[in-house]
Amino acid sequence: MDSSRKILTPVQLTVLIIFFVAVITFLLLKDQLGMFTPHQDMNTADSTVSWKVPDINELPEGEDKELIKYGRDLLNNTCLLIGPMSSDSSMRYAGNNLVCSNCHFDAGTNMFSYNLVGVTSRFPQYSERDKKMESIQERLNDCMERSMNGKPLPVDSREMKAMVAYLEFISKYVPKGYKVDHQGIPNIPPPPTDPDPVKGGEYYDKYCSTCHGGSGEGAQNDPYIPGQVKYRVPPLWGSDSYNDGAGMSTREKAAKFIYHVMPFDDKNSLTLEKAYDIEAFINSQPRPKF
Ligand code: HEC
Ligand code: HEC
Repeated sequence: MDSSRKILTPVQLTVLIIFFVAVITFLLLKDQLGMFTPHQDMNTADSTVSWKVPDINELPEGEDKELIKYGRDLLNNTCLLIGPMSSDSSMRYAGNNLVCSNCHFDAGTNMFSYNLVGVTSRFPQYSERDKKMESIQERLNDCMERSMNGKPLPVDSREMKAMVAYLEFISKYVPKGYKVDHQGIPNIPPPPTDPDPVKGGEYYDKYCSTCHGGSGEGAQNDPYIPGQVKYRVPPLWGSDSYNDGAGMSTREKAAKFIYHVMPFDDKNSLTLEKAYDIEAFINSQPRPKF
């Protein structure tokens, strides 16, 4: 056997080092340069773009802008325009007096809520709940039938078109198949102990009832000012709340909302245990059936 080992000459070694430095520099910089971004795989953890929301006021006047603004109005004033408060009874699709913005704050553009920026870039999407591919219209109607305890909007209605146009607009900086940084609400670990609805009731009184009311009834706006939605603070249970088929009626989606988003004026202040106990309390209270 040949025992002599090959040793690199200084020149070969230098070339090798330069080569590795170049490869590493390239790998570190390629994202900043934005070079290969469009070729990244769909729906991987990497295919994320930074949070950016366009401004409706910058759109040129015209039909598109009107439709998009109407869509935003529908998310902010749902109960007035397509709910129990609508003067046109044929338009009462939503069954309660919530508005989409009660959970998707600022018509879905507030990062610290179930935000909707980039949502149209991810649909159609497989629904675990319905075990099928779902269009954005079907997903929106899921919230109409569950969170809003109502009826689905016709897919070709001006209202559906306006809401989808609006969601497409706020997703305009998110390429197809990508998601935005801070999409949705971060997951939380499972409950450290079995959630206790009795303790949850005590925590509710302490941390939530000042705004949401002693019986979860919410706080209503002054009825003498016309054109306002019904609630200043939405109800959390009872006949005017989301139904038992809604995302918010599930432990996972409600607990992380409570943990990260509530109390409204003191976010991220509750322990995991308190968030889960409060969820167990709220979702054991009476609410409409799906
Ligand atoms: C009571 C709270 C609540 C209300 C009111 C509500 N939603 Fe939702 N919505 C949710 C939850 C919870 C989810 C699931 C979010 C998740 O899984 O990350 C969701 C999901 C969605 C999604 C899919 C988001 C995604 O990232 O996949 C859309 C679109 C949507 N809602 C639209 C609406 C519209 C439009 C309205 C009003 C007509 C509305 N929602 C009213 C709670 C609500
Ligand atoms: C300072 C007032 C305030 C406090 C305290 C508060 N909330 Fe809220 N909460 C709000 C407001 C306002 C909204 C709706 C925000 C919007 O429409 O933009 C809301 C929305 C919600 C929603 C989603 C809408 C719905 O009807 O389901 C839930 C769930 C919720 N709060 C639970 C809680 C819980 C649980 C606590 C106690 C840990 C709490 N909140 C404390 C003001 C408050």
